[in-house]
Amino acid sequence: MGIKNVTCFGTGLIGSAWGVNFLIKGVNVTLYDLDEAKLADAKARITAMLDFYKEMKVLDDAQYADCVKRAKYTSDVKEAVKDAEFIQENGPENIAIKQSIIKTIEEYCKPDAIIGSSTSGLLVSDIAAYAKHPERIVGGHPYNPVHLIPLVELVKGKHTSQEALDKAVAFYREMGKEPVVLNKECPGFICNRIQVAVNREAYELVLRGVCTVEDVDKAVVFGPGLRWGLMGPHLCGELGGGKGGIKFLLDHIGPTTKAWYEDMATWTEIPEGYAANYAVPGVAEELKHRTPGTGRDDQELAKWRDVGLVQLLKYHGKL
Ligand SMILES: NC(=O)c1ccc[n+]([C@@H]2O[C@H](COP(=O)([O-])OP(=O)(O)OC[C@H]3O[C@@H](n4cnc5c(N)ncnc54)[C@H](O)[C@@H]3O)[C@@H](O)[C@H]2O)c1
Repeated sequence: MGIKNVTCFGTGLIGSAWGVNFLIKGVNVTLYDLDEAKLADAKARITAMLDFYKEMKVLDDAQYADCVKRAKYTSDVKEAVKDAEFIQENGPENIAIKQSIIKTIEEYCKPDAIIGSSTSGLLVSDIAAYAKHPERIVGGHPYNPVHLIPLVELVKGKHTSQEALDKAVAFYREMGKEPVVLNKECPGFICNRIQVAVNREAYELVLRGVCTVEDVDKAVVFGPGLRWGLMGPHLCGELGGGKGGIKFLLDHIGPTTKAWYEDMATWTEIPEGYAANYAVPGVAEELKHRTPGTGRDDQELAKWRDVGLVQLLKYHGKL
């Protein structure tokens, strides 16, 4: 493997989990954040994730100790980036902050270091707008929880070189990720667009009184969600069309969906009051019906999710 030294620049929720991902794949990881308190938080999160991997027997004692040994924490920018061949930027989702982070990184990093940005939806071209070397900056958008979700969406900015993109793809692949490269920049990339489309209709069904928050969640989990964990909309369609495959599905069943599309939500801002009046009480009610094993609060729920993801990743041959 070419890349041995990686830096996570900004180690909140996403930066810490990237750190764990990189550590279990054997590279040296420097974790940078603004001050000692932030680094202490990051260390606690990273320790909890590594503990989880040990509990799930993904790491044995020796591998766990080796991961701990390869993690270095610092709030000194120069120290953080000077040896890195790949820098994953995970600062706040704010264009001015991202631009200033790039400036800071470029002051001290190696001339040929690649910079991947975790941005959820900002344009890489804008993030790299004032960079000395915009050609080495790529979008590398992960999914939460980053250490357990293989997807990384790669985006080229106006000035990103093909060489940097290819190197980033190869690096992420070595880190166990499943890279998907966008052919062009678009807001929200691939999966956040799909996610908000599904969410909009879920919220709409609740707002119209068609079903409760709990029932729409249940319908997704025990219906399409189970399939989506294994295959995407096109392969689902291939099987859904029987002998005729996706062509039959689209040609013969597709037209009947016109009336549904016409009736579906088209709003572009979350309706006022949805969070306070529907989502929050709906989630509270849903959690009441769960068990300690399946998660009655955020912490239990995240643990239950992570255990399930490990099983699914093993099924996919990804762990
Ligand atoms: N939360 C998600 O589900 C998610 C998923 C995918 C991508 N992202 C993206 O990842 C990035 C980080 O998100 P997060 O949820 O980890 O946020 P976060 O607030 O948890 O972490 C941001 C970190 O950046 C640090 N920071 C602030 N200013 C900085 C600076 N100038 N230099 C370096 N570090 C600085 C903060 O101290 C903090 O630790 C964002 O761009 C976000 O859009 C988030």
